[in-house]
Amino acid sequence: MWQVLRMTADPGSQAARPSIRTSLAGRHVLVTGVTGFVGEALLHLLLTEVPDVRLSVLVRAKGSTTGHARIAKLLGKPIFAEAVATAVGIEDLMASTITVVEGDLAAPPELPRDLDAVVHCAGDVSFDPPVDDAFRTNVVGVRALLARIEEASPDAHYLHVSTAYVSGRRRGHIPEGPLEHSVDLDAELAWGLSQRAELEARSREADVLAKLRRRAEREHGRAGLLTAAASAEDERKRWVRRELVRVGTERARSLGWTDCYTFTKALGERVVEAYADAGHRVTIYRPSIIESALERPHPGWIEGFKMAEPLILAFGRGELPVFPANPDTTIDIVPIDHVVSSIVAALAYPPAPAEPAYFHLSSGHRNPVTFGMLLDFVRAYFEEEPFAHGERGAVRLPERPFPGPAVVERMLLTGERAQKAADWVIGHAPRGDRTRALAKKIDTQGRRLRFLRRYLSLYEEYAQADLRFVDDQMMALYDSLTPEDRETFAFDTSVIDWKHYLHDTHIPAVTKPVRDLDALRSRRKRPVPGQLRRLSPSTGSETGTDSEPVEAPRVAAFFDMDGTLLSSNIIETYLWMRLGELPTSGRLGELSRVAAKVPRWVQTDRKERGGFIRSVYQEYVGARLADLEAIADGSLGQHVLGRLSPDAVRRIREHRAAGHLTVLVTGAIRPLTRPLAPLFDHIEAVDLAVDRYGVCTGRLASSPLVGEARAAFVKAYAREHDLDLSGCFAYADSHSDLPLLAAVGQPVAVRPDVPLYRHARKSHWSIVDWSSSTTAARVPGVHK
Ligand SMILES: NC(=O)c1ccc[n+]([C@@H]2O[C@H](COP(=O)([O-])OP(=O)(O)OC[C@H]3O[C@@H](n4cnc5c(N)ncnc54)[C@H](OP(=O)(O)O)[C@@H]3O)[C@@H](O)[C@H]2O)c1
Repeated sequence: MWQVLRMTADPGSQAARPSIRTSLAGRHVLVTGVTGFVGEALLHLLLTEVPDVRLSVLVRAKGSTTGHARIAKLLGKPIFAEAVATAVGIEDLMASTITVVEGDLAAPPELPRDLDAVVHCAGDVSFDPPVDDAFRTNVVGVRALLARIEEASPDAHYLHVSTAYVSGRRRGHIPEGPLEHSVDLDAELAWGLSQRAELEARSREADVLAKLRRRAEREHGRAGLLTAAASAEDERKRWVRRELVRVGTERARSLGWTDCYTFTKALGERVVEAYADAGHRVTIYRPSIIESALERPHPGWIEGFKMAEPLILAFGRGELPVFPANPDTTIDIVPIDHVVSSIVAALAYPPAPAEPAYFHLSSGHRNPVTFGMLLDFVRAYFEEEPFAHGERGAVRLPERPFPGPAVVERMLLTGERAQKAADWVIGHAPRGDRTRALAKKIDTQGRRLRFLRRYLSLYEEYAQADLRFVDDQMMALYDSLTPEDRETFAFDTSVIDWKHYLHDTHIPAVTKPVRDLDALRSRRKRPVPGQLRRLSPSTGSETGTDSEPVEAPRVAAFFDMDGTLLSSNIIETYLWMRLGELPTSGRLGELSRVAAKVPRWVQTDRKERGGFIRSVYQEYVGARLADLEAIADGSLGQHVLGRLSPDAVRRIREHRAAGHLTVLVTGAIRPLTRPLAPLFDHIEAVDLAVDRYGVCTGRLASSPLVGEARAAFVKAYAREHDLDLSGCFAYADSHSDLPLLAAVGQPVAVRPDVPLYRHARKSHWSIVDWSSSTTAARVPGVHK
């Protein structure tokens, strides 16, 4: 049973108050959320400073990792080294001090029957979660947990970690007490939980689907309709997620909260207050923005990026030209060690049943730091310790970071419009190194703009919130502690020296991992795409070792031709063939006839590659197949070989030396591939239909192998040759080859066009820039 100790700031009464350690000695405390930032710091503090407390932790399994294994891994972190060493090992520490209760807030398991207190740190802390997720964790999860506590240990003190920002869009002084509002909790809960089913249904309605499908077909039609369908379906799922976030934010704002996070946390408090009204001991604990440690576990300790870090880093990198705040608005920050110390103090002195205690842990009321001050510290720090900007020296910091909301919005809109225009231009530009470099630049710029838009809309509310979280109760608790406890469990935020904390401790701590990563990246050599294992050509087993040959799965390398092996296209190759066959007098006429058709062909190619190929190959009508083959075996053969990229030839030979099958998959006509036959085990090319005299009819013998048909061929070939596709390679240059590349485990984009380049970067595929050969860059028969 708890001894009820009422809080008092009266120093005379302090003699009667036992120390925190004494009060908690032998108590059984359950903590949720210990795999998170606050929970981990609390676990550390309890293990190191309150060793006589008995701990249980509620933790969910993740994938195949059990709750027990997650806690064992957590205790392997450096901050727990001392506690682990004292207990002689992680398992010993767990056996003696920590009981793992595995479970999810969605359906909490039965809890121990002898709990003295529960600290509920677990929560969905994202500002823009899907609305149903936020309700499920922050409201339903709290209710379910309380039901389990009531059933197992009804006298346990329940300490609920909420947030000071449950005050929402209010302004001015916010007292430590129940939040005034008349929102119908159950109606909002039912609405929030129903949104996923509603939006899933809405996303399947014809008008939404038609829009998504049309856009996907515009972007991916060349690769094939199934590729476009897959993209439309992905986009539908993203639409549902976006809408779940949007409706949650809108509902929150329409009721006076900043976002779905603070809205659901506020409703979670109502659930807790109902539990208190039922005669239980309850503390509602509201910290403001929690940042790195002032002292413990060590100065600057932080887990993950929280609220201010993305902004600090973006500013230091010169990617945040504007700060979404008024310079004189307070940013209410508290260090994590003050947070967990004050939680432990509140835990040691619980309130009476049915008399909930409310605490703010905040800094703005008595020791405010403003956005202007924060930015001065950030600027001073980065002026002393700038981020490097590639070869171009130090990053330049923005000059006027607080231009006001209207100017910020105008800048963003202009940037977004320019981005859209640049995107259209690059999508229609001829491919090449310059185009790809430009696409990379535009994509980086686009990412920055999206980052800015997202952060401005998320933080705008916080950055303009002139709130003062009054912390009188918290200070009364602090003042009532013994002098030793005030030293060990310090949480008086008025003593924080912001320059020391922000400039000397916090900012260096949050920039360090980024600097380490940058250094690692610049040290790491670019990976050689698809390291080839040396295999015996005959058996497919590894060679070059003394050991017995190991049976390895068979591997093939599939190569596209035009644009990948040679810098050519099917109009050009048609001309090579046709002009070789015509007398000199006929060549000029043929050239101008073809030139007149090019614009229509280009249009067709943009829409549907198969139609384009058919329409170009109609031009062979009347040609004799035997003549085409003779041309290919003669001067044209030399021309084709001369245009082969030396890098491509080297790569094909490497594959052969590694014992891989080499396969050419091309939309070119078969005669044209004859010079390449020695390089490949199999060539899949277009066969021209001929009549009984061997004359081309202008039709094809079968459908051209383009887009998804290439992937289908690769899969059929793999089945036939018993290949492991995850070990196979494919090389191609165009967005229409996406299905071919996606069919294998080792895709390589070769001098890709912009859409493939973007996809390859997003999917972390290898991108290579095989040089094209210039030794025979002339069309045979035209330039002699
Ligand atoms: N960080 C801040 O600046 C701040 C400020 C004010 C208030 N708070 C409050 O402090 C509390 C802790 O925040 P934090 O920064 O430590 O968050 P965090 O780092 O994101 O950790 C969240 C914790 O909650 C657990 N959790 C989430 N959903 C769960 C579920 N369904 N079942 C079981 N566990 C679940 C997570 O477990 P997994 O590892 O299994 O995902 C994790 O341990 C939250 O209630 C938050 O509202 C935080």
